[in-house]
Amino acid sequence: MERVREGRHTLLTAQRRMGKTSLIREALRRLKCTGEFEPLFADLEDARDPMDAIAEIATQTSSAQGLWPRVKSGFANFLQQGPIEELGISELRVKLRAGIDRGNWKQRGDAIFAAIDKHEKPVVLALDELPILINRLLKGPDYRITPERKQAADEFMSWLRRVGQAHRNVRMIVFGSIGLEPTLRLAGLSAQANIFSPFELHPWDKVTASQCLEALANNYGIELPHWAREAMCRRLRCCIPQHIQQFFDYLHEDMRRTGQREVTLEDIERVYSKDMLGIRGRIDLEHYEGRLKIALGNSDYRIAMELLTEAAVNNGFLNNESIEGYMSYYHTPERQGRVLILDMLRMLEHDGYLSKTTGGYRFVSRLIEDWWREQNGDHFRPIADRISPSGA
Ligand SMILES: Nc1ncnc2c1ncn2[C@@H]1O[C@H](COP(=O)(O)OP(=O)(O)OP(=O)(O)O)[C@@H](O)[C@H]1O
Ligand SMILES: [Mg+2]
Repeated sequence: MERVREGRHTLLTAQRRMGKTSLIREALRRLKCTGEFEPLFADLEDARDPMDAIAEIATQTSSAQGLWPRVKSGFANFLQQGPIEELGISELRVKLRAGIDRGNWKQRGDAIFAAIDKHEKPVVLALDELPILINRLLKGPDYRITPERKQAADEFMSWLRRVGQAHRNVRMIVFGSIGLEPTLRLAGLSAQANIFSPFELHPWDKVTASQCLEALANNYGIELPHWAREAMCRRLRCCIPQHIQQFFDYLHEDMRRTGQREVTLEDIERVYSKDMLGIRGRIDLEHYEGRLKIALGNSDYRIAMELLTEAAVNNGFLNNESIEGYMSYYHTPERQGRVLILDMLRMLEHDGYLSKTTGGYRFVSRLIEDWWREQNGDHFRPIADRISPSGA
């Protein structure tokens, strides 16, 4: 909120499920309540191209009185064909999208920003999942970066940069469930993001996480002593808000089922193995696999998965010898193994799976590490076995 008040554009980065979307929605709500700003929230997860993105942004202005008539007039020729005031959001989006094509998207987009400039209040424009759109533009359905695709990604980022610089009445916040920087970096487009000042949201520290658990326990009238909260945080190692809440939910449910009012260490361990790592917990964690697939495409995803499994079966640690092993194993005439693996590690580090440490990389979250081992560890052949003559 301070950044918005200072008039800056922000690139919010954080691990998956840290609460980026919820926190930005809440910040926008508060900035609107004080009457200072006009918030716009555009989710670009389903946008396949710049035309879809412009249509989504235009659609979101429809809830901003004062702004919408100006935006609408930019689409006037097109929208004359019928009353639009009664349309629902998705119908409106379809209608606006029909007026945008490859030849006019910049012009349509510029018109939205010109309308924003004339608006009485500064506008905060949140672009959720922008990195997914850029990744899609860059790699296409077959996950290959071609000069044309690179140009398409460059064109959209350049346009965003230009409008961000030219229109003083807007403050943009961009973020998403995959990293923007590693994606741009792959295409040599990092400079396109330099109008956004990075803001990193870290996982909760143990004190905050413990306070959240305490508040939840008080709320539900159960006893959750300090040692138990500590044990829960220790189990997860990395306190991602959603995981903390999930752990509490399962524990609470377990206590209700057994009629217990006081928790034991055994309960915590049981709930962790049975629920957090069980079928139900895994459904939430599958989100992590899904996002990796979106970021990398099927074939690179398999390599990233091997790196993570290699770490998981080795007590959460991916050592430098194994990394070297992967670099040589995946080296082909078309692809340099070193570059491929380093890019991948950079992405896994950026997105909070692994962190760099002496001699290699370590899993950040114990929960994700345990889950990864359970899910993928059986029958896994460590790289050393695959490259050594005896394992060949
Ligand atoms: N600070 C918080 N306090 C309470 N709950 C939170 C907090 N942050 C996140 N949550 C909860 O965690 C879950 C995930 O949040 P959210 O979807 O906003 O995360 P995200 O970072 O946008 O995830 P993704 O990386 O998948 O896009 C939600 O259920 C949300 O209510
Ligand atoms: Mg999100």
